Amino acid sequence: MSDVKSTNIHWHEGEITKQDRERQNGHKGVCIWYTGLSGSGKSSIAVEVEKKLFEKGVKTYVLDGDNIRHGLNKNLGFSPEDRTENIRRIGEVAKLFVDAGMVVMTAFISPYKEDRNNVRKLLGDGEFIEVYVEADLETCEQRDPKGLYKKARSGEIKNFTGISAPYEAPENPELIINTTEETNVTKNAEKVIEYLISNKYIENNN
Ligand code: ADX
Repeated sequence: MSDVKSTNIHWHEGEITKQDRERQNGHKGVCIWYTGLSGSGKSSIAVEVEKKLFEKGVKTYVLDGDNIRHGLNKNLGFSPEDRTENIRRIGEVAKLFVDAGMVVMTAFISPYKEDRNNVRKLLGDGEFIEVYVEADLETCEQRDPKGLYKKARSGEIKNFTGISAPYEAPENPELIINTTEETNVTKNAEKVIEYLISNKYIENNN
């Protein structure tokens, strides 16, 4: 949906800036973008990181693929075009959260490199932290928490990522979390927190 249908519209600038909101929040606004196969552990890590950030007083929110597809994106399926539109909308929503000075985390398969890079371009320098939640297909298929791989193998679900639809792994993600090697969610979430602290998005005493 690249065709622009809104015309005669004008951007209205507010008087409170992102920097003002960041100062009030005591930390930067940033998007942590988790990408990986279904069952790789994106949502579990995001939820755990959210908990840790919340305890530190950081303003945070998780946008999750399955949840967003119940509402905002319920008119989208899993064709390449719909996935692209799914990610485009989430990118725009994430940008609003970042502008609000929050740490927004998105857990979507987001299988296409180009779609993820478009979100990176949409956000400012340093505002997009791509986290590749890496797990081999075999591991995800063994976990199969929603029984979807089984349905994909039997042909009941078409265009299933990793089985009958592609997944393009990131080439230069800011962070890789391999959940086949490290299955402990707490330890994996800690890696994200450490990244945020060492790159000065949040303070150690946050
Ligand atoms: S994305 O590819 O457009 O980024 P998204 O993360 O929103 O996908 O949704 C993926 C979730 O939808 C999966 O975790 C799974 O529960 C469900 N799902 C249903 N059908 C498919 C499919 N064909 N391919 C991948 N995931 C699917």
